[in-house]
Amino acid sequence: MINITNAKSIVGEKQSLTIKSHQNIEINAEGLTIFPGLIDPHVHFRTPGMEHKENWLTAAKAAIYGGYTTVFDMPNTLPPTTTAALLAEKKSLIDAQLKEIGIPLRYELFFGADKSHLSEIYKVRDAVIGIKVFMGCSTGNLVIDDDESLHAVFAIAATQDMLVAVHAEDEQRIHARKHQFKDVKEYPVHSKIRDKEVATIAVEKAISLSRIYKTRLYVLHTSTADEVRLIKQAKKENLPVFAETTPHHLFLNESAYATIKGKAVVNPPLRESSDNIALFEAIKDGVIDTIGSDHAPHTEAEKARVYGECPSGMPGIETTLPLLLDAHHQGKISLEAIVNITSTNAQKIFRLPKTEDTVLVDLNKTAEVDPAKLKTKCGWSSFAGKKLRGWPVYTIVNGHCFELI
Ligand code: DOR
Ligand code: ZN
Repeated sequence: MINITNAKSIVGEKQSLTIKSHQNIEINAEGLTIFPGLIDPHVHFRTPGMEHKENWLTAAKAAIYGGYTTVFDMPNTLPPTTTAALLAEKKSLIDAQLKEIGIPLRYELFFGADKSHLSEIYKVRDAVIGIKVFMGCSTGNLVIDDDESLHAVFAIAATQDMLVAVHAEDEQRIHARKHQFKDVKEYPVHSKIRDKEVATIAVEKAISLSRIYKTRLYVLHTSTADEVRLIKQAKKENLPVFAETTPHHLFLNESAYATIKGKAVVNPPLRESSDNIALFEAIKDGVIDTIGSDHAPHTEAEKARVYGECPSGMPGIETTLPLLLDAHHQGKISLEAIVNITSTNAQKIFRLPKTEDTVLVDLNKTAEVDPAKLKTKCGWSSFAGKKLRGWPVYTIVNGHCFELI
């Protein structure tokens, strides 16, 4: 048993807790606040094929140090997860790595929709958390850029009661704008090529497909005020539409190119400060349901390449909760909203069973984000040097207690 005494709930009430475990641990949690184990619905842990960037040995540790007890991994690996056989292979690689490191991290996998393997969807129905559709290309070469295949995926998903998660960026417009800006080699052009309209067009299309087929739709990494407007409208219509945002779209904007350069390059791109504000508002209004770290590590050398050769994505799973807790101290978000977007909403949307997973948080611990202390293999953070108030200090997953020291 793990016995936690003298803790507080997020509303400040004294709380004790006993969690089933083969370990016998007493935690005097004086000064600590109890959170449910965090669920990250959007990570790229890179196994198989891109393990020079990350693998589950390092990423599972990073998850635990971020307060996460459940993660959903994306299919844009090498090879991409587009068949039942590849899915089974990926699972066994992950299980072996988690066993090796002794971290019983809970995980689910997204299945990659691919034009030439649509019939595979039926085979994996009960083995995956949902179907990922890249409407525009990103890291890897998974993309569905024709309407016929998009209709087919949404239709199949609806008949199978599967959720479709969309990377909503319109491939045609990306292509046209890449051509238009082909001679510009500075990083900020990334936000111009993949402009807000790129996202608006794709979100509009995804919502209309959800309307036609009644498909459960999850809009990944919502980054603009305009997407928020469309999602709000869809929810008003009672469509089964859910939305995620990311820590980088909440806490960074285009001004970051000047300081962190290629490390700021991400898909969808960083936007304006007015979008940061709109996303916080959307959390408050219940339009945004979840936050996904979109933990997408690349090596520092890869991120130092010139624009065009610099891959998109940044790590995030270790800093998401401290960023949110720090924002709470600044009056930008309530603790209740943090619990909702980091755990309870995902549990409902993805129909996960309830667990006893718990995170003990020191709301007043202040520390700088120190890349040298991060567990992710990539060893860097877009938030390096940022002083944050509020850090997890114990993560309990599947009856295992990890003290985060
Ligand atoms: O910036 C991104 N990086 N966006 C994505 O869609 C994929 C991700 C990655 O896997 O690197
Ligand atoms: Zn992603």
